[in-house]
Amino acid sequence: MDVYDAIVRRRTIRQFEPRPVGRDLLRKIVDAARLAPSAANLQPLEFLVVDERPVRAKIFPLAKWAAYIAPLGNPRPGHEPQAYVFVLVNTKVRDKLYEYDVGAAVENMALAAVGEGLASCWLISIDKAKARDILRIPESHLIEAVLALGYPAETSAVAEYVDSPRYWKDEAGGFHVPKRRLADILRFNAY
Ligand SMILES: Cc1cc2nc3c(=O)[nH]c(=O)nc-3n(C[C@H](O)[C@H](O)[C@H](O)COP(=O)(O)O)c2cc1C
Repeated sequence: MDVYDAIVRRRTIRQFEPRPVGRDLLRKIVDAARLAPSAANLQPLEFLVVDERPVRAKIFPLAKWAAYIAPLGNPRPGHEPQAYVFVLVNTKVRDKLYEYDVGAAVENMALAAVGEGLASCWLISIDKAKARDILRIPESHLIEAVLALGYPAETSAVAEYVDSPRYWKDEAGGFHVPKRRLADILRFNAY
């Protein structure tokens, strides 16, 4: 798939098919994060993948989904993510200015996922203390993002932005995400 195509097609998806995502695919997606840009090339990020059902079942209740429309956006039973990639910052490598690296890594993974027919939801609203405990993540490593993954079982489309960033679901369950117009955010040569 063309890179720009993947960028245009990527939407946050919160309903997934009950179909496993293979380890090779998960490795490929994390490899896309490994290759992302990193400030000073320090590469403080590490990744922990949760793909086994019993561990997934412990992680799922820790996340909050689609806050604007909660609980409507929650994955329905049987449509939970098939994997979670925890993006960890090793603070022994870098303890500040790692946020940009995290963003680049997560977006690389989200786009790589689209290229493989997968979909994702970037999660920041997750009970990190409980996840740390369950996954035995050492205190030296911060949980900075989680990417929920799976094969998509809902549609989401870009909508016109009219005064509000709030996304919505239509009666058929389709998601609509307002995005600001290019003409409203782009300037050339001077503000
Ligand atoms: C930093 C960040 C954190 C996010 N955290 C959550 C989250 O905790 N739960 C959730 O359901 N969606 C979360 N999202 C997804 C956003 O709601 C979504 O990206 C936004 O509505 C735009 O939709 P789009 O990704 O389809 O363009 C997060 C996105 C970003 C970039």
